Amino acid sequence: MKVYKVKNYEEMSKKAANIIASQIILNPNSVLGLATGSTPEGTYKNLVQMYNSADIDFSQIKTVNLDEYKGLSKDSDQSYYYYMNKHLFSHVNIKISNTNIPDGSAQNGQEECERYDNIIDELGGIDLQILGIGNNGHIGFNEPDEVFSKGTHEVKLTQSTIDANARFFKTKDEVPKFAYSMGAKSIMKARKILLLASGKSKADAIFKTINGPITPQMPASILQLHNDVIIVADEEALSL
Ligand code: PGA
Repeated sequence: MKVYKVKNYEEMSKKAANIIASQIILNPNSVLGLATGSTPEGTYKNLVQMYNSADIDFSQIKTVNLDEYKGLSKDSDQSYYYYMNKHLFSHVNIKISNTNIPDGSAQNGQEECERYDNIIDELGGIDLQILGIGNNGHIGFNEPDEVFSKGTHEVKLTQSTIDANARFFKTKDEVPKFAYSMGAKSIMKARKILLLASGKSKADAIFKTINGPITPQMPASILQLHNDVIIVADEEALSL
């Protein structure tokens, strides 16, 4: 693991965007694995600026997102589909047909998960996977569990994740209780991984990701077994 310690959220966002931009420049056909949440918002903002100044071109880029809430349709303003359009897709020249997000409104969960895994396979795998991390160490929506998950699957969100995400909803009751998420194995198959973390609430998870035992109780700890992981984290997230 390569760990870059930066001062704060702004520096994390800038560095992350630079790493993603270099991937795009070196391979304009890259398959990017994308994340949502507050962590990558600043990164996407920087990428949009680089696009506006003609430094990067998304016309051949393909994307697969990590996860989506089950039960939310594409036009729900809390869906990750909506988030991606708002923060990135609608501002750059990416072809929407080249973007992929699990369909939260799919009726048959198993079919949807299989469809999604097939898409990743057909794209030839992920070149650069961007990850945030939950306070409990989740990556995507791979929550602490007895075993590491494999492919895309349906997840029951933990109370810790529901509490953490309640800030995006009017009431806690509105937070979906289930999601579709790429599995730990799908994430580990990415050729390069970029994990971002900012703030004190991530310090424990980041400490255990880097130093802890590799255990499905701390899903991000599996990244220790990947040979090309970059962590960009700020001083607070690295404070332990
Ligand atoms: P956050 O979420 O970026 O909103 O903190 C990260 C995550 O839960 O993976």
